[in-house]
Order: sequence, then C-alpha cells, then structure tokens
Amino acid sequence: MTDSRGTVSRRLFVSGMFAALGTVPVAAAAASEGTAAVAPARRVLRAAPATVSLGGQEVSTWAYDGVLPGPTIRATAGGTVRARLVNDLPAPTTVHWHGIRIVPEMDGAPGFSQRPTKPGGTFDYVFTVPDPGTYFYHSHVGMQSDRGLYGPLIVEDPHEPLRYDQEFTVLLDDWQDGVKGTPDDTLSALSTTPHDDTLSSHVLGGTSGHVRYPYYLVNGRTADEPTVFLSRPRVRARFRVINAAADTAFRVALGGHRLTITHTDGFPCKPVTVDTVVVGMGERYDFVVTLDAGAFPLIAMAEGKSGRAFAVVRTTPVARTPSPDGEVPELQRKQLSYDDLQARRSHQLRPPSRTVTVTLGWRQRADGGSEWPLNGRLADDPLRLRVERGETIRIVLHNDTHMWHPMHLHGHTFQVRATERGGPRKDTVNVMPYKRISIDVHADNPGEWMFHCHNLYHQEQGMMGVLGYGKPPRRKHVMTH
Ligand code: C2O
Ligand code: CU
Repeated sequence: MTDSRGTVSRRLFVSGMFAALGTVPVAAAAASEGTAAVAPARRVLRAAPATVSLGGQEVSTWAYDGVLPGPTIRATAGGTVRARLVNDLPAPTTVHWHGIRIVPEMDGAPGFSQRPTKPGGTFDYVFTVPDPGTYFYHSHVGMQSDRGLYGPLIVEDPHEPLRYDQEFTVLLDDWQDGVKGTPDDTLSALSTTPHDDTLSSHVLGGTSGHVRYPYYLVNGRTADEPTVFLSRPRVRARFRVINAAADTAFRVALGGHRLTITHTDGFPCKPVTVDTVVVGMGERYDFVVTLDAGAFPLIAMAEGKSGRAFAVVRTTPVARTPSPDGEVPELQRKQLSYDDLQARRSHQLRPPSRTVTVTLGWRQRADGGSEWPLNGRLADDPLRLRVERGETIRIVLHNDTHMWHPMHLHGHTFQVRATERGGPRKDTVNVMPYKRISIDVHADNPGEWMFHCHNLYHQEQGMMGVLGYGKPPRRKHVMTH
C-alpha cells in the first residue's frame, strides 16, 4: 500500500476512503508533498474563554479557537510557521512551540525572550521549523496550559523514510478545569498543603503527580464519548502520542497489539518493539502498528493514579466497542525503557567536553507548601548553566526527591546517555525518584533558554533554570504567575 516514502496510500486516505472521527486527517501532509519549504498562509490562533463538552457536561475553560485540543498545525521541515496569536483572554499569554529548535524571540518564554501578549493584544509568531517530528504548542504563562491552551504541531519530513499507510495523533491530557475549580485554585491549595500529605499520597499511590483529576482525555474526549480512530485491517498505522498533561504521566498500550517505537520527542530512533510505553509530561513517542481486524482499546493509564484515558481503534464496522475499563494485558508486559533506545546514527551527538551536575530538590516553605529547587535555586533567582557556543556538555540530572520530574530544555534536542552506547534524542527526560540520568546538550542555538520541570505545579513552585550562551541576558527572569 505504500511506496518508499509512504505517500501513495496516504493520498488514498486523503481522498475520503476513511472519514475518521476525532482523528487528524492527513490531507495537509499530502498538500505539502514534494516541496522542501512551503510557506503556508498565516493562521490565526485565538486564545479565549470557551465552553467545551466533556463527559456529557458543559465546562468553562480557556482554549484556542474554541476547540479542545487546539487546531493541529502542520508544517514541512525547513518551512515556516506563521501564526498570529490573538489574546482574547482576561490575562496575558504566550504560545510556546515545545521541542522546536526555534529562534529565542519566538519561543513564547515569558521573562526570557519575550513579554507576554496583553489582553486584547496580538503577536505574530513567524519561525522556521528545522526538524521533522511530533511536537505541540501550549501557553507558557502560569497554569494556563492546564486549561485547554494546547494543540498538536506536526512537522512533516519531505523525504519521510518511515513506511506507513495512515497516521493518527493521540494528544493526552489530565483535566479538572471548570469541573473541580481551576488549575490556579489547585496550585494555591497545593501551596499550603503540608508536604507530608503529598508524601503519603505518593507512598500509597506511587504517583507521577500530586493531583487527582476527574477526567483523563484523548484528543479532548472522555472515555464516555471516546475518540474513534478508523482504519482497516493490515493497515500500517503511525501513532503520534503527545502528553500535554500538567501533572500526569501516562502508560500507553493498544489492546491486542505490540508497538514499534520509531521516534522519541520527534527524532528518529532505531525501531524497538514493546507492549507499553510510559509518556511523561511534555514527552512524545511515535510508534507504528500493523492493525488487526476488530475494535481495540487504546489505553493511557494515569501512572500511579486511578483513572485512564481511552480511545478506540476500529478497523471493522461490526466489531463490538471495547469497554474503557476492560483488562489490557499489554499494560503489564514489556515496557519501553530509555536503555532500549538509540538515536539514528545521523542524530548521535559527539562526546561532551565537560560535565555539570544538577540536583533536583525539594524544600518545605515556612507556610507549609513546597518548593522545588535546582542546585538549591528557584526560578526567581535561577540556576544558570553557562556553555560556550558550539560546545557539547553533559548534564547529570540527580533527582533527590520522591517525585517524578520530566525535565525539559527549550530550543534544543539533547541526547539521553541511557547506556555507554548512547541513547535517544529528546527534549524532555523523565527523571525518576532518587535516580540519576545524563543528557548531552550541543550548544548550537544561542540564546537564554528555559530548563524546567514539565510538571506544571513544580514549574510554578520554582523548578526552573537557565541554559544560556551567545547572547547576553536581556533582563532578569521574572516569575510568570
Ligand atoms: Cu512545554 Cu517550557 O515547555
Ligand atoms: Cu518536577
């Protein structure tokens, strides 16, 4: 069904054979085939209060273009994204293009490279996307991305080497906004919760986060009205999984299938076949699956919490729809580990010239709340990692706490040194409790870059440093809430 670039039958799908409910159509991909740098017309992203329907109830939130998730933005590697942010929110906002090796002025990092856009204001984001892959965009102001302010960003490879017939985007989220107060309410509640309470819920639940959410979503839908990915038996499907959650890592499996992992945070890796993959906040994985005949549960278990996000992959019209809480044995079988992953040879980084250690810590504040320092420093007077332009440094991340910390670096894709042989290219690495992991960063994109935990609560409680080089800092970092 495919030629070597996987494009022929993608055109077939585009022609309307498969109208997929709640999936991302591949039309845009076909439209940009064969040209290296398409400059699509400027699109408008309107951030505004919105009402969305979740699990049969109407919920007030903030969203892009009134939809959850925000519209999928597709571009071609080497091409340009042009998006005008229109801020109709009652608060300042920015858009961050997570994982893109971008120019600092377009990174949407408030206090680093740009001022947030005021209510009623607009900002024109114009940037090239150098690397193909699966990315996403989200607000980078305060707790806004724990509302509905996020969406997929897919960068097509004009010379796509991966063979597949059809692709689906799976955007995961944990949801409370408008159901159980706002994320800001939860942040202030957490900020005065004595640490012991958090700790005991961790010990009981082994949780990847602090908050119990009423809903876990795939593409903005609950398990009651799930996203249905429509396909056919024997189709080779590429799934692009994105975790946009604020406080939840997900364990993902597709009932009756094994997953061949092909990309980590957008970058290709040597394919490895597993049954399940844990996706931390801010991480992305692509996998391919040759689909069987039937209807299958796509499960994303909230790791260490009780609850799951659920979607259906259906390849025959008659098969009975699986139950959202049915048993999926794949969830307990072979789980992907960073040790299994190896970047493609062309994406290996050269050995580092030096090593620095960053300790991820926890401290109790006088009011009983928590703060999460990096080498003892918080975001208002951040840890600054200085590198020389062109240098490669190794950062040893040492987690000295009982929580998960998915650490994310802006403007770069580092290489995780999972083993002596190397490891995957990533921009977000999940550092497990009391573990150490090394990442190599090649300083090829000058600027002052955020380096922070992608648990939004930790970020807002100070877990934010700076990697800077090439340009002097413009001004002191300010907290963003
Ligand atoms: Cu998803 Cu600072 O980023
Ligand atoms: Cu953290």
